[in-house]
Amino acid sequence: LAVVVLISGSGSNLQAMIDAQHRGAPFRIVAVISNRADAFGLERARRHAIPAEVLSHSGYSDRASYDADLRQLIDGYAPGLVILAGFMRILTPEFVAHYQGRMLNIHPSLLPKFRGLHTHQRALDAGESEHGASVHFVTAELDGGPLVTQAKVSVLPGDNAETLAARVLAHEHIIYPMAADWFAQGRLRLGADGVPYLDGTR
Ligand code: GRF
Repeated sequence: LAVVVLISGSGSNLQAMIDAQHRGAPFRIVAVISNRADAFGLERARRHAIPAEVLSHSGYSDRASYDADLRQLIDGYAPGLVILAGFMRILTPEFVAHYQGRMLNIHPSLLPKFRGLHTHQRALDAGESEHGASVHFVTAELDGGPLVTQAKVSVLPGDNAETLAARVLAHEHIIYPMAADWFAQGRLRLGADGVPYLDGTR
């Protein structure tokens, strides 16, 4: 299954996907697209001879025109799955609708808790005893799409946002490639009723 990965930064989740592909996962990353030219993830792609493109949002007057060009760029690769991996842009409903059921995101919290940014500090401030990461299908609702899988970690005494983020990130690198693998195998899909199916669980 052809996969396009969208990034904005380090690309550690991209790296986890590349590693999974090399271990034989039934998907092939055909392109990496970043909205930022300085994203280290672009270097990760280049090291693995994966086409790496930058579509900067500067020069675009509105979100819709950026998303239209992004969609054209993505569709040039005809992916069966679009992976958002640390992609820090809010997407228009039209863009999301075009990829409905074949676009995944990972968010560093146990959704529906802590949608949005600074999730680790917010979890600490809220006195959470556990925290984690969530893989979900992308819908127009920010960090609100149907859940596919989650990883839970304990919040430890002495944790700060950095130590908690690092523990969560390590789990992201496990569950995200697993979810992509399920989708590529045809075991995971988003039902017409908006509820995910895994292995025909419904
Ligand atoms: C991380 O905070 C991760 O939780 C979220 O995006 C950030 C960067 O991820 N998904 P990556 O290292 O660029 O994949």
